[in-house]
Amino acid sequence: MAAIGWLRARYVELAWLAFAAANLAAMLFWPSWETIPFHFIWISLTLVYGFRVWTPGATGLVLGLVILATGSLILSDAFHGEQLWGELFEVPLMSAMFLAMVWHARRRQDTLRILERESAERAALLGQQKRFLHDVSHELRTPVTIARGHLELLRRLDGKPAQEIDIALDELGRIENILERLLLLAKSKQPDFVVPEQVEIEPFLEDVLVRWSGIVPRGWRLGELSPGMLHADPEALRIALDALLENAVKYTEPADAIVLSARSGGGEILIEVADEGQGLPPGASEQIFDRFARADVARSRAQGGAGLGLAIVEAISKAHGGSCSAADSGAGAIFTLRFPGFVPAGTDGSAARAGLAVPS
Ligand SMILES: Nc1ncnc2c1ncn2[C@@H]1O[C@H](COP(=O)(O)OP(=O)(O)O)[C@@H](O)[C@H]1O
Ligand SMILES: [Mg+2]
Repeated sequence: MAAIGWLRARYVELAWLAFAAANLAAMLFWPSWETIPFHFIWISLTLVYGFRVWTPGATGLVLGLVILATGSLILSDAFHGEQLWGELFEVPLMSAMFLAMVWHARRRQDTLRILERESAERAALLGQQKRFLHDVSHELRTPVTIARGHLELLRRLDGKPAQEIDIALDELGRIENILERLLLLAKSKQPDFVVPEQVEIEPFLEDVLVRWSGIVPRGWRLGELSPGMLHADPEALRIALDALLENAVKYTEPADAIVLSARSGGGEILIEVADEGQGLPPGASEQIFDRFARADVARSRAQGGAGLGLAIVEAISKAHGGSCSAADSGAGAIFTLRFPGFVPAGTDGSAARAGLAVPS
């Protein structure tokens, strides 16, 4: 069994061996034409080595045998006057060509090994970082909850409104928000980060907008809404939209409009949140999706952002096989989420079922 396994693993070498033996036989029987099989042997050796890259010992052994076999045949034919003596020079020339190939192949293999090792180390480090982030956020939640409990008790016992306690509770709220988002981001590469189901997009978006318009005064509007079913995780979708609407509120005044719309096309849906706020500074639309990134640090800090909202929006759209982007419209900011797996209303049942197979 072991022998069969060895033979299977070495089939390229065995095939080459048979080819080289046939060419040696041709050199032996047709001395006047022997330069043709001679070159076949050397070219095929170089080709096979490019695929296999043998160990230095095995390479030396094979090279020695090929030099010996081809060299002795040409030498004997030159003795018998059937071949020119000059043909013997071909042997060191071919060996030099082969050795140049060996050097290049080994150099490439060494570089590849270094790259593989480095990428494995990087992946391990990234995994550790994620675990660390998750554990720290998790551990910090308990003391923050306890501190909140004590502060609320203090406020109730005292009876009088205390501005200091309110400020402390506000800050704790921000810490809780950041911890919640960090935990979510730490989980973003796990397979169960999103659990997709069929979501009817029109009532879903209406519901999101109604919820926000009940809490914050803004010029809330629903734009064009393409009816249909989206294969997505409704909870994750809501978190992403909430993060976008929270930003839209943050960077607008009460009289400004915030428009939520959804356009479909080619099995995709583009969900858009457009506002009439301060807009984005030039060049900011790429970098704001990074963790802790803020387009205008002074302004955003005053508005209480940690720069994690858009990182979560991006993680959620990517987990659905989609993407997100930002742009400045000249009159405010526009954020677009692109989700695949959308089946417009009115499409027949087979299309609706096809929507279920879209990558999640
Ligand atoms: N609607 C918007 N209008 C203007 N700038 C925005 C808007 N949404 C996001 N930004 C910019 O993108 C940055 C990152 O947003 P985000 O990740 O949600 O962080 P945060 O809101 O916590 O600051 C914000 O600090 C802000 O500079
Ligand atoms: Mg935000």
